[in-house]
Amino acid sequence: MELLGMTTIFLLICISCLLLIATWRNMSQNGKQPPGPIALPLAGNIFQLNPKNLPESLRKLSEKYGPVFTIHLGPQKIVVLYGYDVVKEALIDQADDFSGRGSLPLLKRLLKGTGIVTSNGETWKQLRRFALTTLRDFGMGKRSIEERIQEEAHFLVERIRNTHEKAFNPGRFLTHAVSNIICSIVFGDRFDYEDKKFLTLIYLLDENNEYQNTIQTQLYNFFPTLMEFLPGPHQKMLKNIDEVDKFILEMIAQHQETWDPSCPRDFIDAFLNKMDQEKENGHSVFTVESLTRSTLDLFLAGTGTTSTTLRHALLILQKYPEIQEKVQREIDRVIGRDRSPCMADRSQMPYTDAVIHEIQRFIDFLPLNVPHAVIKDTKFRNYFIPKDTMIFPLLTPVLHDSKEFPNPEKFDPGHFLNANGTFKKSDFFMPFSAGKRICAGEGLARMELFIFLTSILQNFTLKPVVDHKDIDIAPLITSAASIPRPYEVSFIPR
Ligand code: HEM
Ligand SMILES: *[C@@H]1O[C@H](CO)[C@@H](O)[C@H](O)[C@H]1NC(C)=O
Ligand SMILES: *[C@@H]1O[C@H](CO)[C@@H](O)[C@H](O)[C@H]1NC(C)=O
Repeated sequence: MELLGMTTIFLLICISCLLLIATWRNMSQNGKQPPGPIALPLAGNIFQLNPKNLPESLRKLSEKYGPVFTIHLGPQKIVVLYGYDVVKEALIDQADDFSGRGSLPLLKRLLKGTGIVTSNGETWKQLRRFALTTLRDFGMGKRSIEERIQEEAHFLVERIRNTHEKAFNPGRFLTHAVSNIICSIVFGDRFDYEDKKFLTLIYLLDENNEYQNTIQTQLYNFFPTLMEFLPGPHQKMLKNIDEVDKFILEMIAQHQETWDPSCPRDFIDAFLNKMDQEKENGHSVFTVESLTRSTLDLFLAGTGTTSTTLRHALLILQKYPEIQEKVQREIDRVIGRDRSPCMADRSQMPYTDAVIHEIQRFIDFLPLNVPHAVIKDTKFRNYFIPKDTMIFPLLTPVLHDSKEFPNPEKFDPGHFLNANGTFKKSDFFMPFSAGKRICAGEGLARMELFIFLTSILQNFTLKPVVDHKDIDIAPLITSAASIPRPYEVSFIPR
């Protein structure tokens, strides 16, 4: 008993000392660091942060500590930016300082740090610039990206037509269509929906989307060294990524065999040209390795995001038949029934534009954004943030700001409409984040959302399997990405 008492006291003294040291370290350098809950060594703020619902835990902390605060995710220190003002000040007004990518252990392990999403410095600058140029249609292929999306929308509509009004879960169809856009851009052509290789690729990516939300995967970010040794879905996730890598390497090899520098067919060809131009340069960032990683980045960043947004969209439109009807009336007025929707139509379709913006605002697809980092010692407001500190510029508090969007938890296209029915722009519309790291696929994603949705509604009316009043459109709570509740729907030809 005596011994136990002594041990407890000894442990308490040790913990207090560690806490004191931690607090003192925070205070000493060059000025004050953002406040936050006291962290345990190694375990960090495990008691204040629910791994299953980080957005909610962070909301509670912001009430106590204000818009800029520090948390510890395991041993990792993170500065959280909560609210439009601080996110804008950091990502736009101090864009350079905050342009680094912070990698949580899982992302680092998955993407290996040499592609667009996780790299930093000169590598990131050059790979990003190259991807943006290629995604803007310069120097790639004969068909524009818009035409590729229109073609895919056509295949999607035909495939839906073949379900003959039977109710089904449209998730797989949407994933196939969206993945095929990336395939077309990267590999030069779409795949048939029954193609074995294509289906394997999609299966691996899909499986990983599921694994991403498991508790083990979230815990990997808290305790990477430990989780590296434990079995579980996070291990399958890493194996799957190796498989996807192999697939991409095969495609690159095929391209190298048939490569003709004078007419690049796609992203890979354009990249091979760049490698060729820089082959004398020993330090070129354009290598087979960075090509593989960049390609993988486009798949990982460009498939689940857009297809899940579409899956939310089809559920929300079932919930509000009157909104669906208004969109269809606008389609009939501007596009009619005899031609494919194109991007030039959008400026004449303020209601549809507002609905798509509201879908992205409402679902808040990446509540935590993707982690950033400061690339140098940074003064922010009256705080000091040391170089390489990880930053979470949260998106939920921006997209659900109650002054900018009254009743933020309600789905209301009026959030993006003026009283006279014209489209109302908002600086708070940040589902793609903002600043130098803003989503590199924003233009592509918005094209896909517009053309796929209008093509579907041009040809079908969505019919729910339950009373529309009973549909729950609130996303499932997760720490990573916002997922709609599972549903089935039938598509009634118009
Ligand atoms: C609705 C669909 C999408 C949403 C909501 C979305 C959202 C985001 C967000 C929030 C980020 C992090 C930005 C930051 O760090 O500040 C990001 C990064 C990125 N996204 Fe998207 N995205 C979507 C579609 C796409 C598509 C289709 C592509 C494919 C080309 C893509 C490629 C990327 C890349 C490459 C990055 C990393 C940019 C960098 O680190 O410089 N995204 N996206
Ligand atoms: C939708 O149906 C019309 C015929 O009603 C057709 O002309 C149009 O091409 C279809 N849209 C798509 C994207 O297949
Ligand atoms: C509609 O209202 C907005 C803001 O209230 C205004 O800026 C715009 O000029 C108006 N447009 C038309 C066509 O009346």
